[in-house]
Amino acid sequence: MNQHMRPDPVSFIDVVTQRRRLGKSVDEAIARVLAHCQFINGPEVTQLEAALGAFCGAKHVVTCASGTDALLMVLIAKGVGPGDAVFCPSFTFCATGEVVALTGATPVFVDVDEATFNIDAASLRRGIATARRIGLRPRGIIPVDLFGQSVDHDAIGAIAQAEDLFVLDDAAQAFGASYKGRRLGGFGVITTTSFFPAKPLGCYGDGGAIFTDDAELAETLRSIRVHGQGSDKYDNVRLGLTARLDTVQAAILLEKLKIFEDEIAARNTVAERYARGLGNVVTVPHLASGSTSVWAQYTIRLPDGTDRNEFASALKTQGIPTAVYYPKSMHQQTAYLNFPVADGGLPVCEQLSSDVISLPMHAYLDEVTQARIIEAVRGFFSA
Ligand SMILES: Cc1ncc(COP(=O)(O)O)c(C=O)c1O
Repeated sequence: MNQHMRPDPVSFIDVVTQRRRLGKSVDEAIARVLAHCQFINGPEVTQLEAALGAFCGAKHVVTCASGTDALLMVLIAKGVGPGDAVFCPSFTFCATGEVVALTGATPVFVDVDEATFNIDAASLRRGIATARRIGLRPRGIIPVDLFGQSVDHDAIGAIAQAEDLFVLDDAAQAFGASYKGRRLGGFGVITTTSFFPAKPLGCYGDGGAIFTDDAELAETLRSIRVHGQGSDKYDNVRLGLTARLDTVQAAILLEKLKIFEDEIAARNTVAERYARGLGNVVTVPHLASGSTSVWAQYTIRLPDGTDRNEFASALKTQGIPTAVYYPKSMHQQTAYLNFPVADGGLPVCEQLSSDVISLPMHAYLDEVTQARIIEAVRGFFSA
């Protein structure tokens, strides 16, 4: 590179290279839908549900319009409403707690584990006690597999069982990751995901899915997906939504699913290179034993006293984008200030919101470009 030239910009998430790799297969998949014109509930939707089930091991897959709808549909199916408490980590994307509030129930925010960024079991127990103390009825837990890493399902499942709570695993960022050798969605826990384009398995618009082994729940979810329709289309038996996945998106996802396994492997290679290159200058992500990640984000923690804006600007001048997920935890955001937090507060969420930053991560990040990113990060700390 000539010293007077600006460095080539690095992609934070590269959907363009993936699009090039998929090439005609996606064009042809879309063309097939354009030919049969079944834009809603076309054959590709059923095929995708079967393919996703085969991929993760879920008995029933209900695709839907977004990861947010997926969460909301399960809460509606569970009859969650006013007076109920649903526990979720505060260090997450807002949809996790938003859907609880939309049902009229109360999201109770819980702290996360400092190493994995996922829901903290001790804080969850405190949150359940908090809810009872303020007169709420504990109903369910929405753990989040943050940044692509599975939560510790045994720990959360044990609390849920002891307290008679349902678990709704928000795997919007983590479809394809596994826990103790089994893919999320494939071991009986109700699981949702998002196919937002930037997600590890993304479509070309909005989309989502719910995974369950419970046939009755799946049936209810299919009804909720279409206005609560019963066996007679014009006799709606419950309240629902318009929350179907478009056939075009299903057709695209079928093609993307074919290369997903390979992309997960590539993301893990990228994560390993980051860990090797940066492990002694910043805090790199920690994978808990038994959990794998699909690396929706590669999120590091900056050392105490680092000015995060200065760090981001230094990388930006070298053409390297960064992003902060999440500069405010949910309980710190305007819309959620009045919802309860677990006794003891959420110090880890607040600390993470102030010191995390995410680096470029995708399956097509080549070694040379990644070396440039690693060099830039190391250079910042040695300057
Ligand atoms: C943790 C989490 N939950 C839920 C969602 C919502 O998914 P969607 O954008 O498809 O509605 C997202 C999306 O970013 C997410 O990251």
